[in-house]
Amino acid sequence: MNQSNKEYIRLLIESGVHTLLKETPNNHHKLNEKLEDTNLDDNSKTLHEISNIKELIFKISCHETPLKKTANRIVVFDGDINSKLMIIGEAPGKEEDEKGKPFVGRAGQLLVKMLGAINLKRENIYITNVIPWRPPNNRTPTETEILEFLPYLQKQIDIIKPSYIFLLGTTAAKAILATPLSLGKLRGQWHKYNSLNLNFTADVLVSYHPAFLLRSPNYKKEAWADLQMLQEKLNEN
Ligand code: URA
Repeated sequence: MNQSNKEYIRLLIESGVHTLLKETPNNHHKLNEKLEDTNLDDNSKTLHEISNIKELIFKISCHETPLKKTANRIVVFDGDINSKLMIIGEAPGKEEDEKGKPFVGRAGQLLVKMLGAINLKRENIYITNVIPWRPPNNRTPTETEILEFLPYLQKQIDIIKPSYIFLLGTTAAKAILATPLSLGKLRGQWHKYNSLNLNFTADVLVSYHPAFLLRSPNYKKEAWADLQMLQEKLNEN
């Protein structure tokens, strides 16, 4: 097996791929066995050895993916690395790909309004996506792409250690809660995310993606209820 195949398989194992299609939301991060530290790249640290976002961005940028060929800029995160709240979207769109920042286009503007409605400012939140490169023509990321980048997303969570994670849309829900259940079934209740590598848990809430709300404004009522649940939780603690 060549090095890149080995790396890919290791990424899949780290991602908890064996439980991706469970019918119930995540508690799948049970894999405690120490993964063999094969050297992924002679010039850089393994994902396990990385301990800060800067190193992680470098690591992600070194990961070879066909998405790199059509995207312009890598988009990893925006906001506050010390935030207790992490928001996870799907993937960069056109504006994000141009600016190198998540949620700066129309969906981002709606997100800022939604957050403002519960007195939150985007600069005080850690905002990221499941996929760090724009998929061609903004298509939905494939399951393979989700799995490919999941270990990097999990590593971001381990580094930031948010107390709360707000998932926007099906791709983020699938990646983090490891379930094919619909958003309609997942929203409206708190879930748990258990770190694969650390003894650490975050409370997770799922809601509709702002891009979906722009297309289907009749779901705004549910989205508002989700935002209020988030606000209540943040105010409790
Ligand atoms: N949609 C997303 O999911 N993420 C972005 O950064 C922009 C649009």
